[in-house]
Amino acid sequence: MNNRIKASIRDLNLWYDEGAKQILYSIDMDIYANQVTALIGASGCGKSSLLRCLNRMNELISGCKVRGEIVIDGKNIYDKDVSEVAVRTKIGMVFQKPNPFPKSIYDNIAHAPKIHGRVKRGLMCDKLVEESLRRVSLWEDVKDKLKEMGTSLSGGEQQRLCIARAIALRPDILLMDEPTSALDPISTQHIEEAIMELKKSYTIIMVTHNLQQAKRIADRVAFFHKGDLIEYNTSHEVFTNPQDRRTREFIKDKYNQ
Ligand SMILES: Nc1ncnc2c1ncn2[C@@H]1O[C@H](COP(=O)(O)OP(=O)(O)O)[C@@H](O)[C@H]1O
Ligand SMILES: [Mg+2]
Repeated sequence: MNNRIKASIRDLNLWYDEGAKQILYSIDMDIYANQVTALIGASGCGKSSLLRCLNRMNELISGCKVRGEIVIDGKNIYDKDVSEVAVRTKIGMVFQKPNPFPKSIYDNIAHAPKIHGRVKRGLMCDKLVEESLRRVSLWEDVKDKLKEMGTSLSGGEQQRLCIARAIALRPDILLMDEPTSALDPISTQHIEEAIMELKKSYTIIMVTHNLQQAKRIADRVAFFHKGDLIEYNTSHEVFTNPQDRRTREFIKDKYNQ
């Protein structure tokens, strides 16, 4: 397994309500390149909040404060000279509910790369759209209807479109917040296959409430409890030999749900 560190989270703390409510407590975590890291833990333990720290999306929430460092490829993304816009183009995000733009399938992929000056319209843009859709195995299904609305696709296809849209910007890291929780088992399987393929090129951090999914596709698993990182290890170790009582209980309760 590749053991290159892609990102280091250092003493990360997070509060909402202008500091009145602390949600994350001194999180330290190394994220490995070209691996899938799954964040697990009970609802409300801070998984989504942590994910939003990685692309500085929490700054869009008024009253949210973040202290600590997240070093990606050697640079702290919270340094004063780093803009949150630059961070958000480098760190892609996919949400629980598929959220395609109200645009054509083609423009869902092409829109951001054009805005950021990565491609102009024409052949280069067509190639980027095709390549991005191929990476999520959607190309064959949509190549004859690229002008149709992204929202006309099924839920699972919309989610793959959203993943394709994220990778069209060639992000350093891909964040996914419960990307299959709104999908049926077949669509879930397609997304899991896409994730396994994408980790060859990208570093993926995903929140999942489905422990069987974490076991199937994650290389590493981080278990959170009330804002603390309790246990972080290879997926194999966490599932077969959890060290902390709280991890053991959570896995025992949740595994067959
Ligand atoms: N925008 C917000 N303002 C205030 N509290 C929030 C906000 N977002 C989340 N929280 C609270 O922070 C805690 C952690 O939430 P979240 O990160 O969404 O947890 P998880 O993703 O693990 O379910 C919860 O108690 C939640 O109610
Ligand atoms: Mg969440």
